[in-house]
Amino acid sequence: MRITIVGSGYVGLVTGACFADLGWRVTCVDIDHDKIDGLRQGQMPIFEPGLAEVVGRNAENGRLEFDTDLAAAVDGADAVFLTVGTPPMEDGRADTTAVAAAVTALAPALTGYTVVVIKSTVPVGTGDYVHRLISEANPNADFSIASNPEFLREGNAIRDFMEPDRIVIGYDDERAGDILRTLYNPLEQRNVPVVATDCATSELIKYSANSFLAAKVAFINEMADLCDAIGANVDDLARAIGLDNRIGPSFLRPGPGYGGSCFPKDTLALAAQAQEADCPVRIVEAVVASNAHHVRRLVRKIERSCLKAWAGLGRDHATLAGKTIAVLGLAFKSNTDDIRYAASLVILPQLAKHGVKLRAYDPAAMDNAAEVMPEVTYCASVGEALDSADAVLVLTEWPEFQVLDWADLKARMAAPVMIDFRNLFSPQDVAGNGVMYFSLGRPEVQAEQVLEATVTRLEDVSAARSRSTLTL
Ligand SMILES: NC(=O)c1ccc[n+]([C@@H]2O[C@H](COP(=O)([O-])OP(=O)(O)OC[C@H]3O[C@@H](n4cnc5c(N)ncnc54)[C@H](O)[C@@H]3O)[C@@H](O)[C@H]2O)c1
Repeated sequence: MRITIVGSGYVGLVTGACFADLGWRVTCVDIDHDKIDGLRQGQMPIFEPGLAEVVGRNAENGRLEFDTDLAAAVDGADAVFLTVGTPPMEDGRADTTAVAAAVTALAPALTGYTVVVIKSTVPVGTGDYVHRLISEANPNADFSIASNPEFLREGNAIRDFMEPDRIVIGYDDERAGDILRTLYNPLEQRNVPVVATDCATSELIKYSANSFLAAKVAFINEMADLCDAIGANVDDLARAIGLDNRIGPSFLRPGPGYGGSCFPKDTLALAAQAQEADCPVRIVEAVVASNAHHVRRLVRKIERSCLKAWAGLGRDHATLAGKTIAVLGLAFKSNTDDIRYAASLVILPQLAKHGVKLRAYDPAAMDNAAEVMPEVTYCASVGEALDSADAVLVLTEWPEFQVLDWADLKARMAAPVMIDFRNLFSPQDVAGNGVMYFSLGRPEVQAEQVLEATVTRLEDVSAARSRSTLTL
């Protein structure tokens, strides 16, 4: 079987590399010549753990090739996967311009029977639309359309492709189903469930899965805000409700709102399509509104927390203007360089508008962020970002932020104040390390608590010392 992948971004490149790893011959195509030149030289256009190894070994064994010549790559292919972007338009609907451009370009090159598989996330009905476009451009083409939505998560993409919870395939022509089942047979053999359905249902499955997950995130964020407001603890709440099998523990961690290239656009697209169908999805509309509200609230929370902490330290606490805030994390989540719809893109410009000086560090996303937020100073390390900062704001859950050297942090910062929108630390631990701490839906650690925790720690140390003296 020969596969052509059209669009070598996050989804296309991972899909192509993994299909090659499963033993198929794959050509990944892109209109971006620099990207293809780089890939031919082994340079990855994105940060994705493990991707370079899979691409490298399959390029070396000849199963994976890269090309900008769409017609040549499509000629003789059994399956052509469309993995181009489908960004949101102003009104929330998905923009399928890139899908249309790609199929119009590839239609004349189809030879023999080919299944054109839409892997991009697209509105219901796109399969029919693509069918029409190809038939118009090449009336003699022998082809059918299939839908095969992708569920991989950036940062875990290789594993998600190779060990997915399920594979969804939608088709209205059995020949397409046979080819897709053959391509995915190595995974089906490993007991990965395959859900086969019609094209329209398959297209809708992707939107509803993402909207459901987004709802879980928005829900726990609302609970965190409520915990803050009424003095309850979201950690215990999330654990308790997550232990209910009907709810499950995943996606119950508060954060700075969902972001990335999928949840924001897919919730909007589903809501827009449902409106068009005169069947509004009120829950999804509420999720979109709730997420936007949560992020806006966080800007106010930063201001409130900083002013309170600085007042507790007896420092000037009238305004954020002129203060320096260190920012740990810019990507929408860890293990990716993707900043699309990241909370940092909403929060940091707002802080800059308040006159805050921002010093940011992210292990992978700084180049992308620098293109859209030139007002931020980008630092080479966590330590450099912390130097002379009046507060530190945690926005991404990178593993290296979870093992901070607290003594070094305190020595570098002008004021030991942390605002953690990933709830990376336990408030007691942070208090014990002498840092004032504000997180989501959990008790604040203010100057008095830091003092108390320090005294308790000193008492513990001296008690331990006298115990060891007695033993001696
Ligand atoms: N990124 C994710 O985590 C993820 C997960 C599941 C589904 N999806 C969906 O997959 C689709 C692709 O997303 P992505 O994040 O990989 O996008 P991306 O922007 O990273 O990649 C798209 C690629 O397509 C290329 N392209 C555009 N037009 C082309 C054309 N006519 N011919 C050849 N190449 C072309 C672009 O140059 C780019 O390299 C979207 O619909 C997205 O919603 C993404």
